[in-house]
Amino acid sequence: MTKKIKNNVYYTGKVDWELREFHGGALSTHHGSTYNSYLVKEEKTVLIDTVWSPFSDEFLRELSASKDIPKIDAIVINHAEIDHSGALAGLMKLIPNLPIYCTPNGVKSIKGHFHQDWNFKPVRTGDTLDIGNGKKLLFIEAAMLHWPDTMFTYLTGDNILFSNDAFGQHLATDKIFADLLDPCVVWEEDIKYYANIIAPYGKQVDGKIKEIFAMNLPIDMILTSHGACWRGADVEKAIGKYLQWANDYKENRITILYDTIWGGTRIMAEEIAKGIRMADSDVIVNVLSLAKSDKNDVVTEVFRSKAILIGSPSHNKCVLPPVAAMIEELTGLAFRGKKAAAFGCYGWSGEAQKRLSTMIQNAGYTLVDEGIKVSWEPDQDAIAQCLEYGKQFAKKV
Ligand code: FEO
Repeated sequence: MTKKIKNNVYYTGKVDWELREFHGGALSTHHGSTYNSYLVKEEKTVLIDTVWSPFSDEFLRELSASKDIPKIDAIVINHAEIDHSGALAGLMKLIPNLPIYCTPNGVKSIKGHFHQDWNFKPVRTGDTLDIGNGKKLLFIEAAMLHWPDTMFTYLTGDNILFSNDAFGQHLATDKIFADLLDPCVVWEEDIKYYANIIAPYGKQVDGKIKEIFAMNLPIDMILTSHGACWRGADVEKAIGKYLQWANDYKENRITILYDTIWGGTRIMAEEIAKGIRMADSDVIVNVLSLAKSDKNDVVTEVFRSKAILIGSPSHNKCVLPPVAAMIEELTGLAFRGKKAAAFGCYGWSGEAQKRLSTMIQNAGYTLVDEGIKVSWEPDQDAIAQCLEYGKQFAKKV
């Protein structure tokens, strides 16, 4: 799809309406995604990023049809994961000596993916490429937003920040700009994307945004590499959201996560939730089965929460696999400033709840207490204990 964005800047990306899983199966994409690529046609014509490998032929066919390929003087690869560099091999066959502007880590990453010694032009923050008509591309390294090779590219004159993965969402749309879409869907996908992809690098996000503010660059548009782009008032809002999310973000929410074998741990989860609501009618409490919920939606809920409770029955002296898998996921995402406790029922020896407490503490959560465990199916006494536990938990977080 080729579409004019502003002056001599064109969208040349691919809308992937079908996509429901990304990064292998690591990320659910309920609304599809896009691989955004841009063509800047000044005295020099520069392609900024490409598309995911399966769409390489389609992408090159469209560029050929619009007769743009022979005019391309340079390509900028802001980040070399193959959802952005995937058409590079095909493009380099058509234009073998094309200069590739990327960070030094970008060179390593592109070589790692394609095993080719192409015409690399490594750039650092502050380096520029003069593209004529009084305009320049300014490169800004953005390591860990979200890979070591990532950079942003800023187009002077048009005041456009090409931010690659940062500020993106997995959302299929041919409208390009967020202000043309349902804001509920856009912002829901935006926070899901941040929580699941960008969150481990909050310090770098905060530092990079402040660094860009200090550069005093007017930004009229942020053109992302996935989903909708930002213009007008959305630019400030999108940046403001990232600043908020990068700093130990939490809302007045508590999320209860569990898996269950015969339903005892589910009953505990729901009774604890009732107790929390009795003690605090304002807090939002969600109860999510880890066996049945989308794991990336769960991650987003945890990201938004001030505290979590995580429950599993004891199973072969361990916790159930969906619970263990979620803790592994949460360990990597490294959310900070959140409180937690563990719960679960058991039939014989009851190791899971203590084991869970250790696991969630090791994941960076602050334990508020020893949690609660119940033997066998919860009876009226156990239900009353869970209710009371929920009330006390609400007061501690
Ligand atoms: Fe959209 Fe890090 O790739």
